[in-house]
Amino acid sequence: MRGKFITLEGGEGCGKSTQLKLLADYLQNKGIEIVQTKEPGSTPEGKILRELLVTGDKDKFDAISECLLYYADRRCNLTKVVWPALEQGKWVISDRYADSTEAYQYYGYDKRVPLETLQNLYQIVAGDFKPDLTIILDIEPETGMRRSFAKAATMAVKELRFESRQLEFHHNLRRGFLEIAEREPERCVVLNADADIETIHQKIVEIVEQRLEI
Ligand code: TMP
Repeated sequence: MRGKFITLEGGEGCGKSTQLKLLADYLQNKGIEIVQTKEPGSTPEGKILRELLVTGDKDKFDAISECLLYYADRRCNLTKVVWPALEQGKWVISDRYADSTEAYQYYGYDKRVPLETLQNLYQIVAGDFKPDLTIILDIEPETGMRRSFAKAATMAVKELRFESRQLEFHHNLRRGFLEIAEREPERCVVLNADADIETIHQKIVEIVEQRLEI
């Protein structure tokens, strides 16, 4: 039987990576085999793309080049990590997926790439494949950015290409995630991420158990 595909989404500093690990441990303890992945950067090729995408000058790519690089990384993640694992009956949890492209490259940048273009690219890369469940961790951009800069201070390579954008960009992308969730309520659940780690984890577990019937 094919496994389930869960994606965690949200703006900068929303706590996705922490929650992904907690959820993976929880499901693994229930006997479900879990593969953790992320975008960008889950494969060796993707790691190179990630470095190009998240470091350096915020305006170094035009909008279409940036989208194509994210989709190239996505195709590597799907073909080498996600699809093989699902075929083997494992569950896959991804730290970001295609909603991030709509939120960042469309809503964040004030819609400079038509949504239809992104959706066409998605179709080329993934066809009709979609996550079974997407959890969007919603946070005030001011709070998320504070967390994100604090984390970057401890990292050798500063992945701050997006953080260096104006606050307006982050408010736009937050609205974007909320609009995506409204458009696809059967797939997406929005969760307030301004709470302690354990509270959010418990809520995520409830959502996963309800929606995926485990
Ligand atoms: P991360 O720091 O959450 O791993 O994400 C890396 C950065 O890439 C983050 O600033 C969000 C951005 N991003 C996009 O702009 N579009 C995308 O499609 C994805 C997957 C990430």
